[in-house]
Amino acid sequence: MKIVVLNGSPKGDVSVTMRYVAYIQKHYPQHELKVLNIAHQINGIEKNEQEFTRILDEIHSADGVLWAFPLYIFVVIAQYKRFIELIFERNAQAAFKGKYAAVLTTSIHFSDHTAVNYMQGICDDLEMRYVDAFTPHMQDLTLDDGRQALLQFAQHYFTAIEQQHPTLRRFAPLTHSSVHYSPATAPAKLDLLGKRAVVIADSLQNPNLRAMVDGFRNCFVQPPELFCLEDIDIKGGCLGCLQCGYNYECAYTGKDGFIDFFNTHIITADILVFAGAMKDRYLSFAWKRFFDRSFFNTHTPVLQGKQLGFIISGPLAQNQNLAEVFDIYTQWQMATLVGFATDEAPTSAGIDAQLYALACNLTDYSALQYHKPKTFLGVGGWKIFRDEIWGELRFPFVADHKAYKRLGIYRDFPQRNIKSRVGISVLLTMAKVKVIRDSIYKGTMKDNMVEYLDKILDNPNL
Ligand SMILES: Cc1cc2nc3c(=O)[nH]c(=O)nc-3n(C[C@H](O)[C@H](O)[C@H](O)COP(=O)(O)O)c2cc1C
Repeated sequence: MKIVVLNGSPKGDVSVTMRYVAYIQKHYPQHELKVLNIAHQINGIEKNEQEFTRILDEIHSADGVLWAFPLYIFVVIAQYKRFIELIFERNAQAAFKGKYAAVLTTSIHFSDHTAVNYMQGICDDLEMRYVDAFTPHMQDLTLDDGRQALLQFAQHYFTAIEQQHPTLRRFAPLTHSSVHYSPATAPAKLDLLGKRAVVIADSLQNPNLRAMVDGFRNCFVQPPELFCLEDIDIKGGCLGCLQCGYNYECAYTGKDGFIDFFNTHIITADILVFAGAMKDRYLSFAWKRFFDRSFFNTHTPVLQGKQLGFIISGPLAQNQNLAEVFDIYTQWQMATLVGFATDEAPTSAGIDAQLYALACNLTDYSALQYHKPKTFLGVGGWKIFRDEIWGELRFPFVADHKAYKRLGIYRDFPQRNIKSRVGISVLLTMAKVKVIRDSIYKGTMKDNMVEYLDKILDNPNL
């Protein structure tokens, strides 16, 4: 059997993910796993039609396609995303239709589920027969049960192909028939009271997006500044080299305009609005590259306290996964997600109302300097980074470790809270005595849970 492995690592063969593929190959020599370096070679693939056709030929002759990639900012790296865009732009879907697909993505589990959802959605859009995804931590190959699960996953994939198993489809095709939007005058112009608001769009070629950006900016007495990613000198996508890990110095430092742009216009804003049109199940390649390249800040949040809004042309309501990706991004950055305005409303007036609501909320929250509490996505996610940077990833991410100490990110480790540890030890000892245990569990438990909050309510100074 021949499986084409589409490698989404920017590092080509020198890839963690490809070690997982090699392990499968080692144990299944009877099958050919043909690796094609997609992310690493994307410029050649895009420029050279023959190279693109050669990949399609490999897929045509294969029994299955394994999408194997590292997780990059909750999805796939921009270079891989570009390949996916090319499939649709060049009407190459036929090569993928009916092929058995599987996903293998390595990471530290920070939002790997959104990457799997994205890729399964793409497989469904391509009418592939999606079997399953395998999402190991990047070090799982060192563990007995990690290796065993990998081989079981591979075995199941091969069996599904050999026996032509039926497969499950999860995502319905996205449909979008937006009105031609033309903005009306805002009901009352909003005053930003000196706060700096910035709108960033990837490109303003899309007429609805351009009109939405205009409509949004017209909601204010002083229209927010506007920047377009296509006007910024960005030489390429993230290389995954981790040079930034030591002191945030990116391999592109001094070589293009991205870092200057980010430090001058993004980090200094109070209100940030990201505007883009949906392309497949994400925004454009240009937006993905923006998020990947922002990784020169590694895992250190740099947008703390900012209010973030999104203006999106496209069927976002049908794509909860994308909204979640931006929710996770915002919470990871310790910013506040204020909302999404889209062109899904059936009339221009409806879209006006969405944009005005977003503008009002951004203005109010910014004036209040509001920090929205994190949800599971932020709380859970931050525990992953805290543990990883404290432990295994402290090297090479030296700059993160210093920043986490400075920002108090290690403060919530239980082992540091001596008072709580002593208190819990006392309670554990007391609870061994049945009478005391009963009096707590069957008696005072509910009161105990509100007692310390009542103290705050009773305190006239709080
Ligand atoms: C720019 C960048 C972004 C990343 N984004 C994520 C992420 O969102 N979630 C995660 O768990 N790991 C993330 N990682 C970690 C990689 O997914 C992980 O190291 C992967 O195993 C690398 O595989 P590769 O060597 O095949 O490229 C990121 C790494 C880099 C360099």
